[in-house]
Amino acid sequence: MSGRLRIALTKGRLQDKSVELFEGAGLDCAPVRSPGRRLIHALPNYPLDVVLAKAPDVITYVEHGVCDLGVVGKDTILEKGGAFYEVLDLGFGRCRFALAVKKGSDFYGTYKTRRVASKYPNVTRAFFEGKGMDVDIIKIEGSVELAPILDLADGIVDIVETGATLKENGLEPIEDVAQVSARLIVNTASMKLYKNEITDFLTRIERELEART
Ligand code: PRP
Repeated sequence: MSGRLRIALTKGRLQDKSVELFEGAGLDCAPVRSPGRRLIHALPNYPLDVVLAKAPDVITYVEHGVCDLGVVGKDTILEKGGAFYEVLDLGFGRCRFALAVKKGSDFYGTYKTRRVASKYPNVTRAFFEGKGMDVDIIKIEGSVELAPILDLADGIVDIVETGATLKENGLEPIEDVAQVSARLIVNTASMKLYKNEITDFLTRIERELEART
């Protein structure tokens, strides 16, 4: 490493919030604000290079040590797992995983094996295993709300933020599965090798988080 840390940021919703947080901590993020098609950006006033990636790839890059740090949602961490340190709850990207069903339907009211659709099969499996309940899980890639509407599944496990998507599609949440927010993760070797650099970065971020409360 040439004295610079590398951080992977989840593209999209978490990207903007991460940039706001870093700017609050005094880091000039102008290159990340107007990225064009570039995927790596050197910050001009702090020894940090920012990589923009999809959420599961953030974990892959941090696990492999090609990025020292990452910002990723707890939803992806719960689904993908992996070996890294989860050091800070960044407080944004707050939502929850919930079990939802067609409004008024009785999910638990029969002994028949339930079918549950989700983009997050591992989270779903762990949730029902925790209840000692056998369910059939159907992996869906997006717009999971369609599954109960089309009678493909009895319920879904999905991200709920405002609840508007469920409501507009005649579904309702019946149980919380897990709370979700953006997390800062660190590669385990980097934590030892670049302790001073990482401590400096974490201290700046923690100060900014404290200033926000
Ligand atoms: C997520 C989630 C819900 C919606 C929840 O979808 O899967 O569909 O947001 O938000 P709400 O409670 O505020 O309505 P996303 O936009 O990530 O799209 P996708 O499911 O099609 O991937």
